[in-house]
Amino acid sequence: MTHAREIRIMRDANELAREAAELFLWLGEQAIAATERFRVALAGGTTPATLHATLASSEYAHRLDWKKVRFFFGDERCVPPSHPESNFRMADVTLFQPLKIASDHICRMKGEEQPETAARQYEQTLRQEWPGSDSSLPRFDLILLGLGEDGHTASLFPGTSALDEQTRLVVPSTSPKGIQARITLTLPVLNRAGAVLFLVTGQKKSGITRKVLENSAAGGPSWPASLVRPISGRLIWFLDQAAAMDLTVSRQGMNSREE
Ligand code: 6PG
Repeated sequence: MTHAREIRIMRDANELAREAAELFLWLGEQAIAATERFRVALAGGTTPATLHATLASSEYAHRLDWKKVRFFFGDERCVPPSHPESNFRMADVTLFQPLKIASDHICRMKGEEQPETAARQYEQTLRQEWPGSDSSLPRFDLILLGLGEDGHTASLFPGTSALDEQTRLVVPSTSPKGIQARITLTLPVLNRAGAVLFLVTGQKKSGITRKVLENSAAGGPSWPASLVRPISGRLIWFLDQAAAMDLTVSRQGMNSREE
C-alpha cells in the first residue's frame, strides 16, 4: 500500500528540528517495540545538524534507547572521515559524540576509499545487516533526506547514471559542485524504507521545493527528489515557511496538508 505524501510546514528551522525530533523518536520507539532495533540512514549536508543537536539535547536524549539504534548514511562525500566536508564527521560531532554512540552502532561509508570500492563495501555491509536473497532490499525504518537546489537528494544528481540504478544498493556518483566524488544509496533502497523524511529549510530551496512537490506531481519534469516514492512506506516532507513560500498551499494560507 502506498501511503499518501505528507507535507508539514513549520514556522522556522528550530520548530522543524523539534517536530522532526519528535517524529524520529516516535518512529524509533515503534521500531524498537516491534523489532528490538531502529535502523536509520542519516542525511548529509548542513540541514540535519539542527535535528541532531535537538536529539542530543537534554530535553530529548533520554527519550530513546540509543543502544538499540543502528546508524547508516544515505550518502557520503569521498573524503576522509575527519574532513570538514564529511557527512560522517558532521554526524559524529553533532550526534554520535554527544550521545556517546558506540562505534559498532555506526555503519560509516568509507569516503577515504576509492568510490567503487567504498560502494561495494557498503553494499556488503547492508547485505550483512539485512541477510536474505540477493534480490531482497534492505528496509530502513527511517531514511532522512535533504533537497539540493538542483533537485538532488542523497547523492542522486540530475542526469547521472546513479539515478537509473535498479539493482545495486550503493553506487559511486558525481556531484556537479563541491566534493565531486560521492557514493550514495540508490532509489530502490530509498523507496523500500518504512519512512522517508525530507528536511528542507530556507528561502533558497523555495523554488525547487515547489517544482518537486507541485510540478512533478502535475506530470511535469521530474527531479531526483521527486523519484523518491516509498513503495509501502511513509513519505513525509518537513518544510519551514521559507522553503514552502512558493507552494500553492502557502499562498492559500494553509499550514499543512496531507495528500
Ligand atoms: C550531501 C547530502 C545532500 C544534501 C542536500 C541539501 O551529502 O550533501 O546528502 O543530498 O542533503 O544537498 O544540503 P543542505 O542541507 O546543506 O542544504
